[in-house]
Amino acid sequence: MINVAIDGPAGAGKSTIAKAAAKKLNFIYVDTGALYRAVAYNAVKCGAINSEPKIIEMLKNIHIELKYNNGVQAVYLNGEDVSAYIRTPEISMGASKVSAIPEVRAFLLDLQRDIAKNNNVIMDGRDIATVVLPNADVKIFLFASPECRAERRYKELVEKGESVTFEEVLADVNKRDYQDSHREIAPLKPCKTSIMADTSDKSLEESVNYIISLIEENIR
Ligand code: DC
Repeated sequence: MINVAIDGPAGAGKSTIAKAAAKKLNFIYVDTGALYRAVAYNAVKCGAINSEPKIIEMLKNIHIELKYNNGVQAVYLNGEDVSAYIRTPEISMGASKVSAIPEVRAFLLDLQRDIAKNNNVIMDGRDIATVVLPNADVKIFLFASPECRAERRYKELVEKGESVTFEEVLADVNKRDYQDSHREIAPLKPCKTSIMADTSDKSLEESVNYIISLIEENIR
């Protein structure tokens, strides 16, 4: 199986780029952030989000699955498709919180590895090259300046009808970057063997073509 790891901070364009590349190469696109989001969604729903012990306890009662319909990923929490509920700013912040808990990361590890073992995948996350798939065929660390990332996320949220300001989104990006890169377990940092790809000055189309060419060069 061919495994491509794409890591990087929120809003660098990972998901859009990885999705487009997976479609072109006929690979499965695995959005691992959705797994952390599903855990956060459940924690918010049952009032556990502010307590680490409660979140850990809650893991005993949840079952998470990824399913694919024509290549489109859906995340299931205890049999229910929760994909539509996990993209709010509240769940983004919650996901960042639960992802710092070692038990949560361990809980989601096998699920991610199993998918990669059985499929050609482009897996998008924070610790894919360093922890989940250290033997991936291609490892890419995708990044862009915080302002560029906030601008992109702001536009996405406005298009979805959320009422937020650019400053709020930028503050969220900076806060999440800080949390994600300063946590003790699996902090967001490039793997030594990852190809560093900066998308700040590239349009989406340019970024997609760039990443596809990087992958194609490396899996030949
Ligand atoms: O990529 P995303 O914004 O959907 O990720 C949500 C949160 O989950 C983010 O704050 C970091 C965390 N995450 C992680 O720690 N490891 C991953 N492999 C994917 C996401």
